[in-house]
Amino acid sequence: MPPIITFIGWHDSGKTTLAAQVVRLLKKRGYSVAVIKSTKDTGLLPNQEGTDTGAYTQAGADAVTLIAPDLLVMTADRPEKNLPALARRFFADMDLVIGEGFKGADKVDKIEVFRGQGMRLAEQVSGVIAAATDQKSFDRPPADSLVFPLNQPKKIADFLEKEYIRIPSAHSRTVHLITTRQGRLMKNMQSFTVTQPTRIQFGAGTVQDLGTTVKDFNGTKVLLVVDPGLVKAGLLERLTAPLEQEGIPFTVYDEIDPEPGLKLADKGCAIAQEAGCDCVVGAGGGSAMDVAKAIAILLTNGGKAVNYLGLGLIKKPGVPKIMVPTSAGTGAEVTFTAVFINEATGSKGGMNGDPLYPDAAILDPELTLTLPAKVTAYTGIDALTHALEAYTSTQAHVISEMYSLEAIDLIARNLPAACANGGNLAARSAMLMGSLLGGKALATAGVGLVHAMAYPMGGMFGVPHGLANAVLLPYVVQYNLPGNYEKFALLAEVLGQNTEGLSRRDAASLCVEALYDLNADIGIPATLKDLDIPFDKIPEMAEIALTVTRPVENNPRQPSLADVIAVYERAYRHEVEV
Ligand SMILES: NC(=O)c1ccc[n+]([C@@H]2O[C@H](COP(=O)([O-])OP(=O)(O)OC[C@H]3O[C@@H](n4cnc5c(N)ncnc54)[C@H](O)[C@@H]3O)[C@@H](O)[C@H]2O)c1
Ligand SMILES: [Fe+2]
Repeated sequence: MPPIITFIGWHDSGKTTLAAQVVRLLKKRGYSVAVIKSTKDTGLLPNQEGTDTGAYTQAGADAVTLIAPDLLVMTADRPEKNLPALARRFFADMDLVIGEGFKGADKVDKIEVFRGQGMRLAEQVSGVIAAATDQKSFDRPPADSLVFPLNQPKKIADFLEKEYIRIPSAHSRTVHLITTRQGRLMKNMQSFTVTQPTRIQFGAGTVQDLGTTVKDFNGTKVLLVVDPGLVKAGLLERLTAPLEQEGIPFTVYDEIDPEPGLKLADKGCAIAQEAGCDCVVGAGGGSAMDVAKAIAILLTNGGKAVNYLGLGLIKKPGVPKIMVPTSAGTGAEVTFTAVFINEATGSKGGMNGDPLYPDAAILDPELTLTLPAKVTAYTGIDALTHALEAYTSTQAHVISEMYSLEAIDLIARNLPAACANGGNLAARSAMLMGSLLGGKALATAGVGLVHAMAYPMGGMFGVPHGLANAVLLPYVVQYNLPGNYEKFALLAEVLGQNTEGLSRRDAASLCVEALYDLNADIGIPATLKDLDIPFDKIPEMAEIALTVTRPVENNPRQPSLADVIAVYERAYRHEVEV
């Protein structure tokens, strides 16, 4: 008989999905795998069983059979006892048999899949579990258990391959694998306030609703702040048509430079006042959206843009502001920040405050299809940096961490594809969602040292925001690792690295490798030297970076001036230790 592994768990615990994923992986590795699943009835099969059987068939199982539990008593030492002849035939020459939901499998090696723990679970599953293991309560996994996160079939497949399939007598061993959802216990006790008032509409074609959205917020005359890149790409009409359709007059302001200066906001405000606009739509990358956001608050608060640089200086809500991002990067459509270069000082700085939260964001991935590959790469890493820095921020909390992890997963999986083929709508959609979630994470948990160090690169040398972040990211993460090995180790996994069997510290350092490889895959230069930044300006840049206080305070490792200089220097010389 081949080794038999049984997944036992209560209804809807995810065991079928997990087992099917394990089957798929083992099949890919060239093994033959049969699945035996118990049914609830001896007679007609309920739909559930039919669907589950399909999952195994699709996963490539060599044989799938359904057996009513009452007919089956199977143990490791006498696996064929009472086993129906039909099933026995399926099993004979398999490398592994995966069972699901057996009753009475008291000596069978098993994977127990739980969702939740404690007495409620024990009660729910007692019929199955108590018979299977003689244990009445599952408050704790048995001492010899190996714990696998429920979402990691690869780990289970690797384990089975190593410990079972290649060891002929393995099926006589008793090993309890208990898969639980790790990290479900609320470990992060950070207190927080979340204000995220922006109405979000997402989906291909949603820009058609721009006109009705303006009306929803009582706008009657619109200042349309658009990115010139959008105009060049022939997309202006996608924004004006829905306004015309609703009979809403508008004035177009399209003089936005990348890395905008404060005077663009002042000028836009004057244009809006002259035209009598009571609503601002910002469509484009972060530059156009930030200008639009600032104009909306200048219209009601008065004064000049420079008066509002800082935190909490904006007293009144702005006129309604609606954002339509066309790059997947800044997440500015859901943040309370607008970033500008102060022409008087040459430095970059933000206006920050709740009145800057846009009223509505329309995210239409079709509008991002024309974004050039380079800009896709820069802005995409900007979004990744938001999510990553928010995740490891000292301000991170349970909600921001959820946004961060989802964003990082989406971006790491889809950014190379979006750069390789700009017309890939699925990858573009994933990127736009990733940047939105990154924006949500940063709006409540903040960013860190990468952003602080990128600011002087934009302010002094005009390096685009995303590009500056991208080049710095692996080097800063390397510096930050000791600040939170545990989180960086998990990030390495989310970034697609195989961390199995590694210490937390070694796993964490794979983050650096993953980020460096991602940059290389999408054509980001490796060093500050490649960006023509003069080496002798590093000390000055480091001093400016440390004045960007909030991101520095959020950083998981508190840097000295010498530290920041050293990180810039490593980024200049391409010193990545992995
Ligand atoms: N407000 C925030 O929360 C926040 C957060 C991060 C960054 N920022 C700021 O945002 C700015 C950067 O924004 P960005 O990275 O989106 O770059 P960007 O707005 O400067 O746009 C980059 C380039 O892409 C072009 N472009 C945009 N969409 C296009 C499309 N669909 N087709 C063709 N071309 C297109 C633009 O014309 C521009 O040339 C910086 O000033 C940065 O400081 C703001
Ligand atoms: Fe950013």
